[in-house]
Amino acid sequence: MPEEMINEPLHHPGDSDFVVVSNRLPVDRVSTEEGDGGWRRSPGGLVTALAPVMATQDGAWVGWHGAPDEELAPFHHENIDLVPVPLSAEEVELYYEGFSNSTLWPLYHDVIAPPEFHRTWWDAYRRVNKRFAQAAANTAAQNATVWVQDYQLQLVPRYLRQLRPDLRIGFFNHIPFPPQEIFAQLPWRQSIIEGLLEADLIGFQRASDTANFLRSARRFVGAGVKSAQIQVKDNEGNVVHIARAAPFPISIDVGQIQELAGRKDVIARSRQIREELGNPKTVLLGVDRLDYTKGITHRLKAYGELLHDCELTVEDAALIQVASPSRERVETYIQLREDVEGMVGRINGQYDTMQNTAVRYLHHSYPVEEMVALYLAADVMLVTALRDGMNLVAKEYVAARGDNTGALVLSEFAGAADQLKSAILVNPHDIDGLKSGILRAVNLSPAEAGRRMRAMRRQIVNNDVQRWSSEFLAALQKEATPV
Ligand code: G6P
Repeated sequence: MPEEMINEPLHHPGDSDFVVVSNRLPVDRVSTEEGDGGWRRSPGGLVTALAPVMATQDGAWVGWHGAPDEELAPFHHENIDLVPVPLSAEEVELYYEGFSNSTLWPLYHDVIAPPEFHRTWWDAYRRVNKRFAQAAANTAAQNATVWVQDYQLQLVPRYLRQLRPDLRIGFFNHIPFPPQEIFAQLPWRQSIIEGLLEADLIGFQRASDTANFLRSARRFVGAGVKSAQIQVKDNEGNVVHIARAAPFPISIDVGQIQELAGRKDVIARSRQIREELGNPKTVLLGVDRLDYTKGITHRLKAYGELLHDCELTVEDAALIQVASPSRERVETYIQLREDVEGMVGRINGQYDTMQNTAVRYLHHSYPVEEMVALYLAADVMLVTALRDGMNLVAKEYVAARGDNTGALVLSEFAGAADQLKSAILVNPHDIDGLKSGILRAVNLSPAEAGRRMRAMRRQIVNNDVQRWSSEFLAALQKEATPV
């Protein structure tokens, strides 16, 4: 029997037929210290992908609005009904910074940083997941579809099923799902799998994530797995529910990026960026949240060595590294920022001239118009993640390159590598391999660059985020057939 039944009656069922639930809402409260207490776009790939989907779909979005200790009534923003879920300052620390981002995040990303296991964090995770489930239950109409997102909310399918057995529940994991041998470390592995298995459909980025999950479901809850269908049994061994798991690689709003890439002011801005850099022969670009999964230090090491070896010079090449602030109170992120900024300082100190800077390091986040101008300005895009669910920046770069120029250096450990096979694929741990991958991209002949970019653009244009969501939602509506 589920360890925690919640049976509070629902007095006011909501009226939304389609509800998305994610830790963050698409907009974030700007704190009064930073500004006027208004709103700004939330960081990260999840919001980048889902915001355009929700803009064209009638539905409600349940999530946290980014400020602690603040209760807000549901409101309407850019045509979407937003239902804020409050978190106390203590819950931000234990559930968000703690269990989500210091336990699950490193555990699910190949333990690049060591995950921490604390029972108080787990208790907060359960408590907050119940609150999200309750908010979704209050928002959803009879027989509605609820689509739960990402690792912060893996218990929501189970809590929601207890509250509202009438709902169709989907779950999508935006980050990798770890191999069973690593997932095994989690003291609460069984509860997490049981939480997910109450969904009707569980989506992952890659086929390998799906296979990892199915192995863990078999091993840790003894679920019967046949052809990606998972049979959930009661204590007597009767099948009470069938969940399905499958890969659905997420994408971007290709139309929006293409439209911006063709806009005169964006093109003018991209020229201005190159001019301000002194019109170097090659502009290299990295765009990441400042996260240890992104391989920023590996990229800087390779670039620094190429300058040292005189394979590149600051007159000929300039690297722009946008590192948007992220999870700034979490210790591993504080440490990473020190490491990255130390490296940038050392490289610039050694190689800068009066006219040229080796690395333009920008610890900011930018609106999408500026991002597209940067994509247009960059001859080479560097995506060197050590592990990444998908990496939408890689896809945005390809979508922006309408004239089929430019080169993408892409880590084989990013989910995007499964689709962008014509990128220059690299193993970022192999610094020599990374250096030759970068040099290859810098020196690519226009014919080869065009051939590679055309192949990648075909892939992206045919598989945009609208297609991703409609394929997931169509699969979610199908009945599982016992096999
Ligand atoms: C990744 C995660 C998202 C998360 C985003 C930003 O894309 O998959 O769930 O929202 O990073 O991180 P943050 O902790 O700021 O929400």
